[in-house]
Amino acid sequence: MFKIAVVCVSDRSSKGERKDLSGPLITEELKDIAKTTEYVCVPDEQSVIEKELIRLCQTDISAVLTTGGTGFAPRDVTPEATVAVAEKNAPGIAEAMRAKSLAFTDKAMLSRAASVIRNNVLIINLPGSPKAVKECLSVIKDVLPHAFELLKGKVADCGRPFEV
Ligand code: MTE
Repeated sequence: MFKIAVVCVSDRSSKGERKDLSGPLITEELKDIAKTTEYVCVPDEQSVIEKELIRLCQTDISAVLTTGGTGFAPRDVTPEATVAVAEKNAPGIAEAMRAKSLAFTDKAMLSRAASVIRNNVLIINLPGSPKAVKECLSVIKDVLPHAFELLKGKVADCGRPFEV
């Protein structure tokens, strides 16, 4: 079982003005492959998000899943905070979610979500709504265990041998 952290990014949820449904949904959707060891809710403040991501990437987890703050609203800064703390880019995950989400809604093109690696921990931005979270996780869920193994350096050869 892998370990993950879930970060809800929302001004209102961080003040207790709106219940976060998406964070618990991430835990539920990934329960077959990972256990959520930390759940935090932070406001849409880039410095606060960055600090939390840096702290979480120093712990013994495979991934940080964020929800919210990926859109075009003035205070949406989750991707900026994510990219700011990145050591490596891992664009395929965000690209796949956006591309396949277009089958669900054209509005998928409005997510600016990023996916990166820091300290061998994957950071994946998900949109804020529970519907979008569920759809995006359905795209990446099956690939995550392999990604986590790779991050741990446990996969020597992830392709089949080339035979002539
Ligand atoms: N992706 C999927 N799969 N399903 C959705 O309903 N909603 C979009 C987009 N991505 C959506 C989606 C919408 S309406 C917005 S504004 C952006 O995600 C950003 O959402 P956020 O600001 O809550 O992060």
